[in-house]
Amino acid sequence: MRALTVLGIETSCDETAAAVVRGCAPGPGEILSNIVFSQLDAHRPYGGVVPEIAARAHVERLDDIVAQALSAAGVRLSDLDAVAATSGPGLIGGVMVGLTTAKALALAAGKPLVAVNHLEAHALTARLTEGVEFPFLLLLISGGHCQLLGVEGIGKFRLYGTTIDDAVGEAFDKVAKLLGLPYPGGPRIEALAARGNAKAYPLPRPLRGREGADFSFSGLKTAVRQVADGANQADLAASFQQAVVDILTDRTATAMERFKVEFPDAQSPALVLAGGVAANGAIRGALSQLGSANGFSIKIPPPKLCTDNAAMVAWAGVEHGQLGLFDGIGVSPKARWPLAGTPARGE
Ligand code: KG4
Ligand code: ZN
Repeated sequence: MRALTVLGIETSCDETAAAVVRGCAPGPGEILSNIVFSQLDAHRPYGGVVPEIAARAHVERLDDIVAQALSAAGVRLSDLDAVAATSGPGLIGGVMVGLTTAKALALAAGKPLVAVNHLEAHALTARLTEGVEFPFLLLLISGGHCQLLGVEGIGKFRLYGTTIDDAVGEAFDKVAKLLGLPYPGGPRIEALAARGNAKAYPLPRPLRGREGADFSFSGLKTAVRQVADGANQADLAASFQQAVVDILTDRTATAMERFKVEFPDAQSPALVLAGGVAANGAIRGALSQLGSANGFSIKIPPPKLCTDNAAMVAWAGVEHGQLGLFDGIGVSPKARWPLAGTPARGE
């Protein structure tokens, strides 16, 4: 297959990002540029992402970020094979900014457009970095999502489990807020936990040992709230992080069993971690161990490619482009866009 060069645009949350990637499925691909402008400072005073502020900041910065991505890659619009943009799921104002910009660039340059699902972009990142073969088991853990999926191919996902309340990154962010730490809380909790005692506070592990691979974090967050007053911060952060690690490993172990039944021919399949929370060292370590104990090879993109970025969007564009899967200029942005339906229970 011919290598494709694709410009990717990401604006679904609080990162304004553009990147140019060249490559061929199954990867690895070459990241020619990867520009990420984080709007964190604009949102920090509010303790979370404010959609209207995010959309306005994307409008103000995106043109410049795209120009930087093209120039850092040393390519012109005419050198591209396609323009790809996240077209959901996410904050609709931001998604509209990115997708509309991509449409304008594609029309102006006479290039095809790829409307990328943000979750699929996270899912495929391990192919960009390491050329991971299908099928693989995916643990997608971010600020908005917490899912276990069997990934068979482009657009072919089986949902094994999902959160029934909060996403895991959301739990990190809410617990950080309880401890008086600034947004985003994940990295702060991890740093605090490194010097705390994980056994100091007994916290619940909701759904552990239950059938299926669904997640729940709201009971854990409530339990943290009940002991937060006057608590030793490092000990509480460590105890919380350990509870999250235990929940994730238990649910992933269940999904591994189901994956092995559904894909009996997969030799040493990959367990891929994706999403911002996959930047967490304790989680990476525990899942690596679980993977090797169960015959899975663990693949975790570097932290910079786990959090939101446009290289993953450009790579999804490469994979779609090679299959001839382009989108019409009339394609709509979507606030909601699940990768797969509700998990089949009791199987
Ligand atoms: O994938 P992402 O950049 O954005 C989306 O939600 O799509 O993920 C952001 C989330 C935030 O909730 C943040 O607190 C969390 O990832 N996160 C972490 C760490 N780094 C980022 N959580 C735990 N430990 C980390 N080191
Ligand atoms: Zn994301």
